[in-house]
Amino acid sequence: MLSERSAMEQEWWRTALFYQVFPLSFQDSNGDGRGDIRGIISRLPYLEWLGVDAIWLGPVYRSSMVDSGYDISDFCDIDPVFGTLAGFDDLVSQVHARGMKLIIDFVPNHTSVEHPWFKESRASRDNSKRDWYIWRSPRPGNTAPSNWIDNTWQPAWELDPRTGQYYYHRFLRQQPDLNFRNPDVRRAIQDVLRFWLDRGVDGFRLDAAADLLEDELLRDEPREDDAAQQKPPAWKDHIFSTDRPGTIELLSEFRSVVDSYPGRVLLGEVNVTKANFAKYYGLERPALNLPFNFELLNLKNWSAPHVSAVIDQYLTQLPPDGCPNWLLGSHDVPRLRQRIGSEHLQGAAVLAFTLPGAVLIYYGDELGLDNAEIPQEVMVDPYAEFGFGRDPQRVPMPWDNSANFGFSTATPYLPCAPEASSRNMDYQKRDHRSLLNLYRRLAELRGNQNVLRHGTYIPGPCYGHLLQFRRELGSHSLNVALNFGPDPILIEGHQGKVVLSTSLERQGETITDGLLLQPYEGLILEQTSN
Ligand code: GLC
Repeated sequence: MLSERSAMEQEWWRTALFYQVFPLSFQDSNGDGRGDIRGIISRLPYLEWLGVDAIWLGPVYRSSMVDSGYDISDFCDIDPVFGTLAGFDDLVSQVHARGMKLIIDFVPNHTSVEHPWFKESRASRDNSKRDWYIWRSPRPGNTAPSNWIDNTWQPAWELDPRTGQYYYHRFLRQQPDLNFRNPDVRRAIQDVLRFWLDRGVDGFRLDAAADLLEDELLRDEPREDDAAQQKPPAWKDHIFSTDRPGTIELLSEFRSVVDSYPGRVLLGEVNVTKANFAKYYGLERPALNLPFNFELLNLKNWSAPHVSAVIDQYLTQLPPDGCPNWLLGSHDVPRLRQRIGSEHLQGAAVLAFTLPGAVLIYYGDELGLDNAEIPQEVMVDPYAEFGFGRDPQRVPMPWDNSANFGFSTATPYLPCAPEASSRNMDYQKRDHRSLLNLYRRLAELRGNQNVLRHGTYIPGPCYGHLLQFRRELGSHSLNVALNFGPDPILIEGHQGKVVLSTSLERQGETITDGLLLQPYEGLILEQTSN
């Protein structure tokens, strides 16, 4: 049996603050206008200052760079755009030297068309790697093997004239899906996990974790009339190409590999319906430690009743011992500021940092970055062609007021973030009232207050624009109160000391008879019993 202390050390991820770095956009070190590993290393002091526990690093593998690194052509090498394997090893050791962890993106669902496995596979029908991908002959009438569509809403099958068969791609046509029904593929991918675990990474963020298996019969999916649809189909519509039986068992195999190295973690991007996410923690055997919770990220209406409803529903659906986690942003969705409005940015930070479990933030959201307006012809994301390009939320991190806001000495590969002359790291670091300093204070508080990491979560009465809950550990209790509206709210009966508020001057205030919350204020009150 592990002692309680070492169990907590092994399971550090349960209460961690994860910070997502989009490698192309964080820091350029070699003057090519694109971010790289050396650049990230140079910014580690910042992440340590901010109070980050773990960095989630987007893909830096050798790649054809059609999908910003998510189209991998060698799982065991670093793309020259980002640096070298030696540079990566240096990153691992420097992250560790600063007391942080490093999680890397892992993208097993598909490879690039340039991957040697795919090149072999497509060479002939009897190639030994043919079955490593999903190949099928046309249906009678020379049509695709099923009606499935890919992530861009285009047919998910691509005819390869060389052999007269179609290959399947859940994402772009340049990203053919690996066939995880083939045991050789499973073994090869597990070897890849070991390769990086041996290099010292602390875990993985498994990309497209629910998409690894497809229906063996390739049954058509129910589709509405295309013309009637205004937007790409939701994940729930992919009933035969995602969330298939067998997926959890496959993830459990990955988990066993990860668990054979102490203190590592397996996070996963699981885009499935609310009813189905809980099983991704595992069925008979553990699967993902942290299947992503997209509830706050997908919320259309950032209001107290909606936010409290999704929190409570999510927490009640968790399996026993399932660790909660909260994502505020990612490289795939518009910036937090765009989604919830600037007035809610501070409250959202207080909320995410005080809920039980792990919290994941996206680079630049701590500065309140907004989506950038990028002309179509400048976009690099291939999704732009289909009307939902993700470049606006991926622009370079603004560091200071020097040329290109300190990101690069060259013209950056994407335009700069809007209002970067004040929404930059250096500017906000010097302003005690900035969003950045609020993030830092919150991270510090999580670090210092056991109750925020290990305390029970007790929902409080929510009405109007008020959302409240309590965290409790032994006799220690913290009340979190958030005002989602433009008018003050008086909460009767509260007393205690303000340990943190989005209004800096309230820090340390003693509340004796009722708490008056200012518009959009988020406040943490240490309760004193009388
Ligand atoms: C995931 C990634 C996304 C990428 C896709 C294909 O959804 O988050 O950015 O395009 O997988 O790998």
